[in-house]
Amino acid sequence: QANERESMYLVSEFAQKYFYNILHNTDEGRAIGYSYFKERGFTADTIKKFGLGYSPAEWDAFSKEAAGKGYNVEFLEKTGLTIVREDGRMADRFRGRVMFPIQSMSGRVLGFGGRILGNDKKAAKYLNSPESDIYHKSKVLYGIYHAKQEIAKKDNCYLVEGYTDVIQLHQAGIENVVASSGTALTPDQIRLINRLTKNITVLFDGDAAGLRASIRGIDLILEEGMNVKVCTFPEGDDPDSFAKKTPYEELVKYLDENAMDFIRFKASLLMDEAKNDPVKKAGLIRDMVSSISKIPDRIQREVYIQETARIMDISEQVLVSTLAQLVQKDI
Ligand code: CTP
Ligand code: MN
Ligand code: MN
Ligand code: MN
Ligand code: MN
Repeated sequence: QANERESMYLVSEFAQKYFYNILHNTDEGRAIGYSYFKERGFTADTIKKFGLGYSPAEWDAFSKEAAGKGYNVEFLEKTGLTIVREDGRMADRFRGRVMFPIQSMSGRVLGFGGRILGNDKKAAKYLNSPESDIYHKSKVLYGIYHAKQEIAKKDNCYLVEGYTDVIQLHQAGIENVVASSGTALTPDQIRLINRLTKNITVLFDGDAAGLRASIRGIDLILEEGMNVKVCTFPEGDDPDSFAKKTPYEELVKYLDENAMDFIRFKASLLMDEAKNDPVKKAGLIRDMVSSISKIPDRIQREVYIQETARIMDISEQVLVSTLAQLVQKDI
């Protein structure tokens, strides 16, 4: 099993070098892939640091090259880079996409995200490697290899949604940043960060839909006993687009000034939604108390009770008794 995984790592490493080489040293790669990255504002150094690449728009260019170099079809298939068809012929999974290698904490290539060029609404924007013996989506954070030192040093981790958010922030000089890659945050991912720092600042894309959904995942961070702040961006911006147009000093200032304690943020957000609707308000009291009940530290829970009572304009008594019920159930 260990041997099999090692073979899969080697195939993935070869693929990363292959896509990187196509990006730099072929007409198609340069004209389509490289100029796409340039348009997004990525420098040559950034492209190199993250090992970005391009997969040619052909049926089996990669698979043929890999097989020709002696890589076993079994492992090409197991990594998902090659799809073996019923007639036995090989097809490349990634075709005509810019490629983002996904690396482990120790820098090994586990899989890829491949983005279509342009904004064709019909095709899926990103195609990702399938789950495999080396790539478990729920256990990986994009960028962790390049961010780990800075996360420990700054004693804080910025958590973003996407590949390009991580890359653009790095280029802007903020290197303690990783991405959940669009999926709901998992306990395994949180524990990965927990090894480096107890502090997470979640940076949301500036679209309201995503915001409400992400809030559930954040309770998981509280459960790990970590401190969570959240920061939103102006409507229509994500960390990538915002960082691209904002000078470093201003960017750092924005993140500092807009990072808000999660419990406070959630209470304010929910209060906005409930307004003067008493039924909704009752529901969100339970929702808030449920979040607070996840916090392992009793004193910290009390501080949040006081604050939430103030924001929601209700008595602490109500929150305390609801909390008592919830915490009881947990024990
Ligand atoms: N994602 C995915 N498949 C999709 C859409 C999104 O896997 N069809 C993941 C990717 O990891 C992506 C992240 O979710 O980076 C965030 O999605 P989104 O905000 O839509 O994309 P961006 O990262 O902003 O991508 P871009 O700026 O290239 O449009
Ligand atoms: Mn496994
Ligand atoms: Mn988004
Ligand atoms: Mn985005
Ligand atoms: Mn984006």
